[in-house]
Amino acid sequence: MSQYDDHDYSSHLKNTDSEFSQLVESAMSRRQFLRKAGLAGLGAFFITSPLSQAIAESSSAATATTEAAKPSVSTLMGFKAIPMSTADTVVVPEGYKYEVLVSWGDPMFADAPAFDAAGKTPASAQEKQFGDNNDGMTFFPIDENRGVLAVNNEYINPELMFAHQGKEMSADDVKTAQAAHGVSIIEVVKQDGRWVLDKAGKLNRRITANTPTELSGPAAGHALLKTRADATGTKVLGTMNNCANGQTPWGTYLTCEENFNNYFGTADAAFKPDEMMERYGIELEEKRYQWSKFDERFDIAKHPNEMNRFGWVVEIDPMNPASTPKKRTALGHIKHENAALVVNNDGRVVVYMGDDERGEYLYKFVSTGKYNANDKAANANLLDEGTLYVAKFNAANNELKGKGEWLELTHGKNGLTADNGFADQGEVLIKTRQAATKAGGTTMDRPEWVAVHPSNNTVFCTLTNNKNRGKKDNQPVDGVNPRSENPYGHIVRWQPTGSDHAATSFDWDLFVLAGNPTVHKEGLMAGSSNITAENMFNSPDGLGFDKDGRLWIQTDGNYKNEKEFAGMGNNQMLCADPSTGEIRRFLTGPVACEVTGLTFTPDYKAMFVGIQHPGEDLLVSHFPAGGESKPRSSVLVITRVDGGVIGS
Ligand code: FEO
Ligand code: CA
Ligand code: CA
Ligand code: CA
Repeated sequence: MSQYDDHDYSSHLKNTDSEFSQLVESAMSRRQFLRKAGLAGLGAFFITSPLSQAIAESSSAATATTEAAKPSVSTLMGFKAIPMSTADTVVVPEGYKYEVLVSWGDPMFADAPAFDAAGKTPASAQEKQFGDNNDGMTFFPIDENRGVLAVNNEYINPELMFAHQGKEMSADDVKTAQAAHGVSIIEVVKQDGRWVLDKAGKLNRRITANTPTELSGPAAGHALLKTRADATGTKVLGTMNNCANGQTPWGTYLTCEENFNNYFGTADAAFKPDEMMERYGIELEEKRYQWSKFDERFDIAKHPNEMNRFGWVVEIDPMNPASTPKKRTALGHIKHENAALVVNNDGRVVVYMGDDERGEYLYKFVSTGKYNANDKAANANLLDEGTLYVAKFNAANNELKGKGEWLELTHGKNGLTADNGFADQGEVLIKTRQAATKAGGTTMDRPEWVAVHPSNNTVFCTLTNNKNRGKKDNQPVDGVNPRSENPYGHIVRWQPTGSDHAATSFDWDLFVLAGNPTVHKEGLMAGSSNITAENMFNSPDGLGFDKDGRLWIQTDGNYKNEKEFAGMGNNQMLCADPSTGEIRRFLTGPVACEVTGLTFTPDYKAMFVGIQHPGEDLLVSHFPAGGESKPRSSVLVITRVDGGVIGS
């Protein structure tokens, strides 16, 4: 399933046509204003805004390399940009190389069977093999030549996984599919200068959609989390649709459950979904994966609360294969994209999180307790107690910058009362989306990854695209989501007041509006001035910083390379200098893939990058093995031929 235009589920809010056309008009006149003022676009706005000046100053103080930077020429990035590509391969810049570390179906243990391309893999084999559709991942170092790579396995492509292409699903096929979901934890070792998977690694572990996990935090044990199989409301089998990720300074991995709704349904024609099911997008006729047909747990009519037990951030100790993954309910119940964790100046832990659906929200969690660098055990439950907030972005006259505020999602505040359908804090958390609407958050263009700059506290979030903006569901064209039907996506950034991530206010602006300046000669669809014919892309999704403050951007967009998207080619990875705004293309992926997932070794000389679903929807790809081979999602290791730091 192409991730470009799914997520079309929300129908909870309404807006009128006349309202949105006024807003579209006002967005256009903003653009005209920028042009009349002699500014080519947002890049100019970006360079002259007070927020960008503050960011530029702190960046150049933090990284000596930017000192000599001119406004539009980066010295932070030392590689030569590559052109767009439609080839069925991965291309990296001159002086770089890529190798395939691991692909879907590769054995992870000495006794695991080899990948079988025939499409008849039993669950018993798949649960010892690398999962499918690798997404977010984190490298945890052990020593200079060894580390643990924790990798999300988001979903499966039935058309590629099964000989019958998903047309004749059986109970056994569903078990295989469940075994291909979750997380793959692998030891990787540097041998003769190359990173490889160590099948003998004692920390190797598969966590699947059937691995025992625990719910913890304020909602654990809530009546809405209890099922016939689990009267405690705390014991869940599995994690699934593990999209992007995060990591903690105490050495744990955070895996984020995203489109869990896709696995629930029912054959009971008389069943009426409740408001909760509608808000989270349950479709009763679940045709694609068919788990509800063959595994009763996913039948929403028989087990209506099971869906509430997915859609959480899950904390895993990658160094202890016997540990139980914990679903941290304090971080909210949404279609979680990633979890960008930062230790605040006062020691509290702040986690930024997006809910990837059209017109949903951006969140942050602030812990009550403080991080203790000297005592790993003391941090074990830091993510169980704290305050969740939803973001509201204000803009005077719909300017493309402004002030923002964080609205608290605490029972008894901001309308979150029993009278309004929230009996207690557990219910506020389980109904995070409804709570955010009640509190008055700003509906966003599908918030995907959030990334925090390593030294100046600026936070960036990809807003991937949104065909509903300005069209329906009370998603008005506004300052922070300035385009109707936003086909290209953009990146917003903000600076917390006083550089305090716990502050309830911030200043924001737009870092980039992706666009197509070769198709649109003017207007917001051309993109901001840091978008050119040479670096065009659409649908920014994966996002991360390296230690020097280079911003890495990965795309999950329309790869047809025609019409609105002509000249963009396959999905790709770019690198940006946050202080100058310059963006350079770094990598292009194979046919019908998404580029997602990035992490580095501590010396930043190896970068792991994910290629997800090459050849989806049976578009022809043979990546990575070539020939007539079956396409397989894979993790790449990217290094420089001269052994230098990636990107520099
Ligand atoms: Fe799994 Fe929103 O991407
Ligand atoms: Ca994806
Ligand atoms: Ca994503
Ligand atoms: Ca996406």
